[in-house]
Amino acid sequence: RQLLHTRMRGDQVIVVSNREPYIHEKEGEHVVVKRPASGLVTAVEPVMRACSGTWIAHGSGSGDKLVVDSRDRVRVPPGKEEYTLRRLWLTPEEEQGYYYGFANEGLWPLCHVAHVRPVFRESDWEAYKHVNQRFADAVVAEARSEDPIVLVQDYHFALLPAMIRKRLPRATILTFWHIPWPNPESFGICPWRREILQGMLGSTILGFHTRYHCKNFLETVDRYLEARIEHEHSTISFQQDTTLIEAYPISIEWPTDTMVSRWPSVSACRAKLMERLDLPHDHKVAVGVDRFDYTKGILERLHAVERMLEKYPEWIGRFSFVQVAAPSRSSLEEYKSFQDRIHRVTARINERFGHAGYAPVHLLAQHFGHEAVNELYRAADVCLVTSLHDGMNLVCKEFVAARDDEQGVLILSRFAGAAREMPEALIVNPYHVEELADALLRSITMPPAEQRERMASLRMTVREFNVYRWAGRMLADAGRTRLRERIEARV
Ligand code: G6P
Repeated sequence: RQLLHTRMRGDQVIVVSNREPYIHEKEGEHVVVKRPASGLVTAVEPVMRACSGTWIAHGSGSGDKLVVDSRDRVRVPPGKEEYTLRRLWLTPEEEQGYYYGFANEGLWPLCHVAHVRPVFRESDWEAYKHVNQRFADAVVAEARSEDPIVLVQDYHFALLPAMIRKRLPRATILTFWHIPWPNPESFGICPWRREILQGMLGSTILGFHTRYHCKNFLETVDRYLEARIEHEHSTISFQQDTTLIEAYPISIEWPTDTMVSRWPSVSACRAKLMERLDLPHDHKVAVGVDRFDYTKGILERLHAVERMLEKYPEWIGRFSFVQVAAPSRSSLEEYKSFQDRIHRVTARINERFGHAGYAPVHLLAQHFGHEAVNELYRAADVCLVTSLHDGMNLVCKEFVAARDDEQGVLILSRFAGAAREMPEALIVNPYHVEELADALLRSITMPPAEQRERMASLRMTVREFNVYRWAGRMLADAGRTRLRERIEARV
């Protein structure tokens, strides 16, 4: 963190993301500040605190509920005030077309390939272009020099890099794509595939979570654009620009000793959870913590719980699964019907295997704050991360960071980017119910010594490859490019 702070001194850093890192809401007379459920925010926020600078985001959560005398500029985090949050207010029509429409009904299913058909509407595309332009204008307005470092985040802003490049040709633009990149055939169904690729290639550096996503991107460009690709250096030259395509596996901020010393003990966390669910102390508990999203494999998890209880009935009454599902994008039909289905399946399983005082599944469809989630991780025997496809997934890393007692088992989908870094987890194919049910049984019967061995190794990985390393590597690569450009400008 210190290194990042030192490295960035003198350079202006501007972050652009759709989701704001803090939501200011009015509750009665008071303004309360909340953190949204977003892997992107979890990762980028600590980096921004180290670099200071300006974060430009859509004031979505704070919108009409606001607040702070409708300031569009606030210093955050509250009480610490380490950087500036600059909010852009979108109209309901802009939000509908750009965010719900093109980003979440088009690009999200397109890139995740989770068997939900992407929807492409001309009007959404128009809104997407228009909102990208508005953010580009905001970046230009915030820039204090000709060459700021701009960190563009995610699939909401595929067109932004080229738009910024046009107005600030000397800017260093680092774009990070937080979700998977599919193969060329899958991506090719997007009617605006060329425009999207051209937009992204305005970046100095374009980052993905894994080499595999980089390879898919290089092949996609090769298929649809006239560009020069140098595989050896992983660069793409298109028109006047050269972009480095690189893998930067994202991570979390590893908790400091002071933070850990303030956490309630594992046994206190466990006691609290058992009391809340009215369960005996030796009951086995598996948890899932996700946004309520169809890519997360929540249905597959429920099927596995059902199958396990069917196959191994001795666990009925002795095992429960707790799913925290933070409501997300709920006004979209696909999300609504998915969420209804999960409620129905939960009720069915509870009816089939539950009895008075015992429910095998607890579905908590609500947003949990960071502390509550951390306590849940500490209380659980098992954490289930069964995404059907996920760029990285940070829940698995947070779970590991929460377990300083080196106990607890992680079940992890092979289709999450994190599976490559965390082979000590029980790696599963979530589409295979039988395999998942058996992994569940294995996890609740795993001897403490084996749990310790796996957990200690996982903790070492996440501690070392933390979020500062993610940002540090990307910024170091950017630093080298800036230096080279300065030298070339002199000769
Ligand atoms: C994923 C995306 C992020 C997004 C987050 C929450 O992690 O990659 O860009 O912020 O989900 O989704 P939301 O639509 O609520 O911002």
